[in-house]
Amino acid sequence: MSISLAAARERRRPTHPIPATTRRNEEKAMKITVDRNKCSGHARCNAVAPELFELDDAGYVTLEESEVPPHLEAQARRGVMACPERAVSLS
Ligand code: F3S
Repeated sequence: MSISLAAARERRRPTHPIPATTRRNEEKAMKITVDRNKCSGHARCNAVAPELFELDDAGYVTLEESEVPPHLEAQARRGVMACPERAVSLS
């Protein structure tokens, strides 16, 4: 027995509609947390991720907690790795 290509494709269609949300939308947003008690003003976080880590006039990071836009996740990781005081963490 042979079936047409169109009939074969029709058979492969899911019986249930594909959910409107994609896996990416369901993932929890990455969040940066800075322990400002540990920050010693090295400014390395700002050097590698200036869009995420603003500094005050004395060179200390001003951020305490913030969600990371998906397009800045790589920068956020670099910011964590750059801090010698381990003041920055991601969750
Ligand atoms: Fe502070 Fe670390 Fe950035 S010490 S300024 S959080 S590199």
